[in-house]
Amino acid sequence: MSKPIISPSILSANFLNIQADIETLNRSEADWVHVDVMDGVFVPNISIGFPLVKQVAEISEKPLDVHLMIVQPEKFIKELKDMGTMMMNVHYETCTHLHRVVQQIKDAGMKAGVTLNPSTPVAMLKDIVADLDMVLLMSVNPGFAGQKFIPQTVNKLKELRQLIDTTGSQALIQIDGGVNLETGKLLVEAGADVLVAGNAIFKAPDMVDMIHQMKNL
Ligand code: DX5
Ligand code: ZN
Repeated sequence: MSKPIISPSILSANFLNIQADIETLNRSEADWVHVDVMDGVFVPNISIGFPLVKQVAEISEKPLDVHLMIVQPEKFIKELKDMGTMMMNVHYETCTHLHRVVQQIKDAGMKAGVTLNPSTPVAMLKDIVADLDMVLLMSVNPGFAGQKFIPQTVNKLKELRQLIDTTGSQALIQIDGGVNLETGKLLVEAGADVLVAGNAIFKAPDMVDMIHQMKNL
């Protein structure tokens, strides 16, 4: 079993001193930085906008993994590319023409991820999974950090692993929501490639050590 990719979610960072938190991530074993953008329409919360994402991109030494919980995410492909986004991740539920959006993201030179809400079945991705660089399974309802992990995600993850393996897709499997050392271990055992964690990392007494522990689950 290879080590999971760790993508700390800065939704749980200290926004009054985000530079300090990003610098801590820079010297940690974190692989990516997970950035949650919310619009108050698709999800019942508003988080950060592109001016802040751009400044985070400037000081982060880790690639940006941008999780867009917004309607019409395709409007921002160029903007995200220009600020150096590595992974642009859109929700299945927000894209009527998902195939087109995925192609546009890839044509712009970014990796394309698609996220499923907890109630959206894995089977909805059957005809597009081969084109994806990553699938994110939400293990909480999107909108807030610090929620409780939905245990059904583990079965869903096994189903996705099977779909990916049978279609020859190279997509990584990312899990987001309520991930900590305990749930993270179950997820890695079930075949997760990327773990996102907000509260478990940013509320830990020692972030660098927590990231090290997650990396070595
Ligand atoms: C929720 C966000 C998550 C969240 C994770 O809508 O997509 O990335 O910040 O936070 P924790 O790990 O605290 O559940
Ligand atoms: Zn997220």
